[in-house]
Amino acid sequence: MPNAIESVLVENRVFPPPPAASAGAAIGSMDAYKKLCLEAEQDFDGFWRRQANENLVWSKPFSQVLDESNAPFYRWFGDGELNVSANCLDKHVQGGNADKVAIIFEADDGKVDKITYRELLGRVCQLANGLKKLGYKKGDRAIIYMPMSIEAVVVMQACVRLGVTHSVVFGGFSAKSLQERIVDVGATLVVTADEQVRGGKTIPLKPAVEEAFAMGGCDAVRQVIVYRRTGGKTAWVEGRDLWLHDVVAGQSEQCDPVPVEAEHPLFILYTSGSTGKPKGVQHASAGYLLWSLLTVKWTFDARPDDVYWCTADVGWITGHSYIAYGPLAAGLTQVVFEGVPTYPNAGRFWDMIARHKVTTFYTAPTAIRSLIKASAAAPDTAPDRYDLSSLRILGSVGEPINPEAWMWYHKTVGGERCPIVDTWWQTETGGHMITPLPGATPTKPGSCTLPLPGIAAAIVDETGADVDQGNGGFLVIKKPWPAMIRNIWGDPERFKKSYFPPELRGYYLAGDGAQRDADGYFWIMGRIDDVLNVSGHRLGTMEVESALVSHPLVAEAAVVGRPDDTTGEAVVAFVVLKGARPEGDEAAAVAKQLRDWVAKEIGPIAKPKDIRFGENLPKTRSGKIMRRLLRVVAKGEEVTQDVSTLENPQILDQLSKSV
Ligand code: WTA
Repeated sequence: MPNAIESVLVENRVFPPPPAASAGAAIGSMDAYKKLCLEAEQDFDGFWRRQANENLVWSKPFSQVLDESNAPFYRWFGDGELNVSANCLDKHVQGGNADKVAIIFEADDGKVDKITYRELLGRVCQLANGLKKLGYKKGDRAIIYMPMSIEAVVVMQACVRLGVTHSVVFGGFSAKSLQERIVDVGATLVVTADEQVRGGKTIPLKPAVEEAFAMGGCDAVRQVIVYRRTGGKTAWVEGRDLWLHDVVAGQSEQCDPVPVEAEHPLFILYTSGSTGKPKGVQHASAGYLLWSLLTVKWTFDARPDDVYWCTADVGWITGHSYIAYGPLAAGLTQVVFEGVPTYPNAGRFWDMIARHKVTTFYTAPTAIRSLIKASAAAPDTAPDRYDLSSLRILGSVGEPINPEAWMWYHKTVGGERCPIVDTWWQTETGGHMITPLPGATPTKPGSCTLPLPGIAAAIVDETGADVDQGNGGFLVIKKPWPAMIRNIWGDPERFKKSYFPPELRGYYLAGDGAQRDADGYFWIMGRIDDVLNVSGHRLGTMEVESALVSHPLVAEAAVVGRPDDTTGEAVVAFVVLKGARPEGDEAAAVAKQLRDWVAKEIGPIAKPKDIRFGENLPKTRSGKIMRRLLRVVAKGEEVTQDVSTLENPQILDQLSKSV
């Protein structure tokens, strides 16, 4: 286990929720929390039935809550029907909140654009009508490859209004990654933008779509719809390419939402696993919507006058559940931001919180850690230079938050008055699973604390038996929950194998190691598989390896993670070339080539921070790469393991040298 995590376990500071956070909160005390947990335990069906009836608008009510007959392919609220977009938009427009601001959009250059729920619904309907006219309908799949924008939310909502299943591809992914997803998901529609703007620079998007098409396999796509963000140049295929503004022009602002079955696939989002091929995580409509809404109500204690801001990108699950769906279903006013935290300077987040009077701020530990550094270097961009008094709740997501960053967040950003909700969850879980409740749970820096009501989280050994308190084990969820992954798109066998291994008694295996303390609090210890977490982004070591070995110079590659002060983990690649082992300037030049190659194959987030060349890789007698050994070497630590099986111990020396 990394040292940073070990130090977490001796953490004994406890921060009770401030009285102001408990007053009037959705769940305002530990008693209220325990009461809900007990309700779910004693009457699991009744608990979820009540939540689904109280929180969702159904076009056809459901009778059965949970169907376990084909486990682990669970069905929730199976015979009910609804439309997710109607629950996010029409509900508020008809419910007296039509003129409430839904989205405050801030562009990279600081330009602000506000849109009310009525206007948002109008735009979603116009696009849905435009898509309908082009022949898109329930059951179709659309790839969305767009920058952070009101338009991205409009496109997602317009798809689900028609029952079109979307798959958003993060704008930082390469043409190759995009092409793989277009093919795997069987898309007939691609929606993109000409370019995106981040940190004062423009980055082409539509040209990447062209490249993806040139790689082949995209013939099922009938249209590429392009949002004009910058006016940047792009190739244009007549008959296939359409401007977004032309598709919506003249369309009515009314479009009846298409009711879909509760289990209808709402979206497919690709994420990294322990093989080279990303998994298409398939989510259902009703259960997912219920949980994204409920968790916004509970974890963020959503209140009508909140200004909520989640800094994630819609290309990740956090941007789905906590930008495109949950906050809209809850009727919140939210900030959507196009740019990056460090442009025009490292005070950008704090400046935006002050200007928009943000009450609820949700970001990743990596951002916090990099802003700690940046504000030390440039004190006039530090949080204490801004009026952050509007803040009432701070959230953290995506990776473990180290106590030092937690304390800085608590003191410097939150003025010691804002509870921190450290939310543990995954692409597969759809929404928060283990998290403090701001008005109820005493927090401890570095712990995601306790499971939400209805979530049967536990820590077990390799036979599925509960481990004793204080011992590490596999984090599992013992009972299904409404927002759980339904399938891996097109690969049910992999779904079963990855998440419900038979030896674990049918429990959902999260893939994280964890431990509980004497208060039952969960401490996440990091992944147990070959998945890395770099800046809160999930990356498979095998994905990076396959990218590297596809380079003509490379014979073999092994990739491991190394703890990193800022990004949590960093990618370290050990590479054997087909030719001689390079040294000096040549090594540096090849390393640069390989980094650029990985950026092109996957995306810049996957670039190895450190590349080391050897004449071979350390292997066991049976030919398996000794990854544990490589992790030690990557950290620059002394090798104390038995290396007698190594064919050529000299290579450890070679591999310990960074280029
Ligand atoms: C990690 C992101 C510690 C974990 C929402 C998990 C966390 C993976 C936390 C999922 C947290 C997420 N504390 N670790 N609060 N939140 N993780 O699918 O390893 O991108 O399995 O979902 O991130 O990453 P994903």
